Amino acid sequence: MLSGRRIVLGVTGGVAAYKAAYLARRLVEAGATVRCVMTEAAAEFLGGQTLAAITGDHPIEGFWDEADVSPHTDLGQWAEALVIAPATAATIAKLAVGLSDNVLLATALATEAPVVVAPAMHTEMWDNPATRRNIATLQNDGRIIVGPATGALAGGDSGRGRMAEPEEIVAELAAVLQGDLQGVRVLVTAGGTREAIDPVRYIGNHSSGKMGNAVALEALRRGAIVTLITSARPPVEGGIEVIEVESAQEMAEAAWERAPLVDIAIMAAAVADFRPKIVEGEKLRRSDGIPSIELEPTPDILGGVAASPDRPFLVGFAAETGSLDGALHKATTKGVDLLVANDVTKQDSGFATDTNEVTIYTPDGAAAHLPLLSKREVAAILWDRIRESRSQG
Ligand code: PMT
Repeated sequence: MLSGRRIVLGVTGGVAAYKAAYLARRLVEAGATVRCVMTEAAAEFLGGQTLAAITGDHPIEGFWDEADVSPHTDLGQWAEALVIAPATAATIAKLAVGLSDNVLLATALATEAPVVVAPAMHTEMWDNPATRRNIATLQNDGRIIVGPATGALAGGDSGRGRMAEPEEIVAELAAVLQGDLQGVRVLVTAGGTREAIDPVRYIGNHSSGKMGNAVALEALRRGAIVTLITSARPPVEGGIEVIEVESAQEMAEAAWERAPLVDIAIMAAAVADFRPKIVEGEKLRRSDGIPSIELEPTPDILGGVAASPDRPFLVGFAAETGSLDGALHKATTKGVDLLVANDVTKQDSGFATDTNEVTIYTPDGAAAHLPLLSKREVAAILWDRIRESRSQG
């Protein structure tokens, strides 16, 4: 799977740098061509000559000692994937803000190839809110985070923060380069719909579109052809077809038109269930007294897709408050293949957060509860579940 692929291995300054030599060896054994780039601190932990002996090429360590006038753009354009292993907290922070003060960071900025990051640090550093923010930023930028694992750390400590094993990183690179959704057509809905009351006001909700964006980006990373119907801000990353809508009616029309053309549809949008029956042509005025607004139901987008004869594999979301009993009912009655439930009243979960705690239901009512994870991690696990369900069905 990695045979003939061009991989840039970036090594930063942590004790796990010794594992980078094993990683280089595994990649070469898998048939990849590997070029290495090291930070100054990495060279304190691992001799460049070791990497040179394994890969057949001397690692690049500085902008100025290279014959190449632009080593970072040369490497960035050459790479089919860049893997940074180990990635220290400092490098992760710099990647998150786009700093380019060494060849490795400049290569990460200069490349259009997927970037796989394998963090390695002490547990306290990994748990620090700054690192959590930086990791979430990298994930939202489409970087792929592998690990860290839990186990022995430097200085005799143990806990989460240990670099993922080279074999795991190689497997992730293979998945990234192969793409388990290669050519699969995917439709995602995201954001909260806005139901106009008058030209100024609407009935809406708190959905930011982050969950749907994460699902769409993860599908893109895995090679899918992705259409995102959204009423929120779409991801900045290119490659996704974006259809912008406002109301449930507009989302329904776009979704029902697209659904028969795709293989998988994921409905992460928070769609209004009711809308004003009459949309006033002019702004309602306080001076006219308190209006009474009659509501009517919006179209059931998910229900429409589920009922269509050429329906795709269908995943619904359920926003619940408190008990997930409602989600279980939706999973067993709505005609979906999977249902992802979140309690939007839980801390750091649901609307507008970068994290989410979800339970994934199958139509027979079986539930798999996940811990609080970044939305991108939730998306990755969801896509793994979809792959398993489709291969069984
Ligand atoms: O966007 P974020 O800020 O990241 O927040 C994420 C989220 C909380 C919005 C997301 O995780 C989520 O829960 N999305 C579903 C919200 C919702 O509308 O839940 P529901 O239980 O009301 O609807 C169940 C399903 O029916 C959903 O798939 C929904 O898209 C769909 N639906 C709902 C109403 C309607 N008229 N048509 C529909 O298709």
